[in-house]
Amino acid sequence: MCGIVGYVGNKNAQDFLVSGLKRLEYRGYDSAGIVTLSDEGTATLIRAKGNISNLEEKLAQNKRNDKIGIGHTRWATHGEPSEINAHPHQAGKIFLVHNGIIENYKELKKTLNEHEFKSETDTEVLAALINSFYKDGQHPLTNAVVQALKLVKGTYGIAVVSELDPTEIVVARSGSPLIVGVGHDETLIASDASALVGHTKQAIYLNDGEVARLTKNSIEIKTLSAEPVSAKVEEIETNLAAIQKGGYDHFLLKEIMDQPESLTETLRGRIHAEDGTVRLGGPGLSETELRKIKHLIIVGCGTAYHAGLLAGYYIEKFTPEITIETVIASEYRYRQAYIPENSVALIVSQSGETADTLACLREIKKQGVKTIGIVNAIGSTIAREVDGGTYVHVGPEISVASTKAFTSQVVAMVMFGLTIAQAKGVRNSILRPYVSEIAKLPSEIAKVLESNRDLVQEIASQYKDFEHAIYLGRDTAYPTAMEGSLKLKEISYIDANAYAFGELKHGPLALIDDRFFEIAFLPDGELYEKAVSNVQEVLARGGKIVAITNVDKFDLDVENVVKIATELKIFAPILMNLISQLFAYYITVAKGLNVDQPRNLAKSVTVE
Ligand code: AGP
Ligand code: GLU
Repeated sequence: MCGIVGYVGNKNAQDFLVSGLKRLEYRGYDSAGIVTLSDEGTATLIRAKGNISNLEEKLAQNKRNDKIGIGHTRWATHGEPSEINAHPHQAGKIFLVHNGIIENYKELKKTLNEHEFKSETDTEVLAALINSFYKDGQHPLTNAVVQALKLVKGTYGIAVVSELDPTEIVVARSGSPLIVGVGHDETLIASDASALVGHTKQAIYLNDGEVARLTKNSIEIKTLSAEPVSAKVEEIETNLAAIQKGGYDHFLLKEIMDQPESLTETLRGRIHAEDGTVRLGGPGLSETELRKIKHLIIVGCGTAYHAGLLAGYYIEKFTPEITIETVIASEYRYRQAYIPENSVALIVSQSGETADTLACLREIKKQGVKTIGIVNAIGSTIAREVDGGTYVHVGPEISVASTKAFTSQVVAMVMFGLTIAQAKGVRNSILRPYVSEIAKLPSEIAKVLESNRDLVQEIASQYKDFEHAIYLGRDTAYPTAMEGSLKLKEISYIDANAYAFGELKHGPLALIDDRFFEIAFLPDGELYEKAVSNVQEVLARGGKIVAITNVDKFDLDVENVVKIATELKIFAPILMNLISQLFAYYITVAKGLNVDQPRNLAKSVTVE
């Protein structure tokens, strides 16, 4: 999620807040705001949609020499990007900034009738809830924050100030990082250490369930159950660029390694392994509408298209009487394709701004077909124009090559498919294995990444000088091969193409020679032996094969093997795709290329 800064001390708060928010810009955001308090407690609240430069323009007309304040860059989850939805949010005399999601905000909002809501956000509900306990200063601000947080379900990193006491800031966190910078006669706050670099080297990293009351020369931390916490002061890394990448050399590696957490966000509140069900609120389709679905059109470009292909393979395995058509947006928008009755279109896009996908959405809507967004960027154009949707909530994806979004897009679409199957009365015994494996995916992803990272780096170095590669797979491993080949070609510039194993003998086998190496996906299952035969065909022609498999007794005479140790069977291809991501990353690093901004490409293709 996004960015929080705060300051209390003897210097100009506005200056620190703006410079701190700029340090956090790399995380991606859609709006920003700050509030500062004069010594008398007069608040100056400035918010702006879009770039921080818009906020600075407004600040130029509202300069203050206040010594306390909080600021926020928003990555919207509830309520579109706008000035009125930007943080800080006010309730009575208090102001709040928040990173995260208040999942039970609707229920809480019903209890807060005295507050006149101005925004669509979940955050304003939290501000009103805190104020309902603060009662304009009848109770200490810290106590009011604690009382409110005890009622909250969801994730938060928050900072709160009150006009009634312009010397204190209250902060708290659960699931969204918050750091307290320890200064000389000043105390700073940031959701990411990069905002503190140059101001202090001493930091206290709050833990989940902790609340702190800060003044310019005191830091008092307690748990929500009022137990005192002894603060552990740590040294801040001084290399700004490194910090912004969370200590990784590139955003791409950070985003690959972030997938256990990002997929957890996608699943939050939606997957229920205990009863083998999924519950998606977003699509907004009734049980009847879900039951009637006979045809799914899945639309996307690039990685989003591959995610749709892979999800489509899964959905048709457990959903009866349904046809699935996954299409490339730039092609489909110009076809005169017949769309049958009882169709629903899934519109897949990380950025939510891809021109071809957006144009396709509009064409499909003209035909009266229900459109469901599978989008990451909240409040993006596609997210606003679909009839319903499921946000993947992976947070900003900075690197041009999409990685964490792919994994979450596939899972989000499978969950939508499970929702259809549930409505169609598919037996729980058929669906439960899918739900159970999805629930285990984040931890399995963590294991696969950690245990294979070094091996993949070593193998990648062997192939960095090749100019051609072939990716091969069957069934769900075929879209996986397609996605892997895209990852390699788009950042290493190696000419990589994917083929269905069964297609090899229909032409591509003629390509095999010393110019090529092959990546072969061999998931355990009923098609494994068929894939083994295909591998033998390639070996017989001198193929240089890197096999990626979860079959423990793999014994083919290939050049390299990456064995994935996992109990998962159904979603093993998603784990295999992690190897492709790491492989592409390490080859590109070995070639000394620009990992995060490959030539000729943009993160969001808003042109046709
Ligand atoms: C994927 O690594 C590429 N960056 C590209 O293919 C991307 O997936 C495609 O442009 C679609 O982007 P979107 O998901 O933001 O719509
Ligand atoms: N859920 C809050 C909102 O949509 C905070 C989002 C964020 O973390 O930036 O405003």
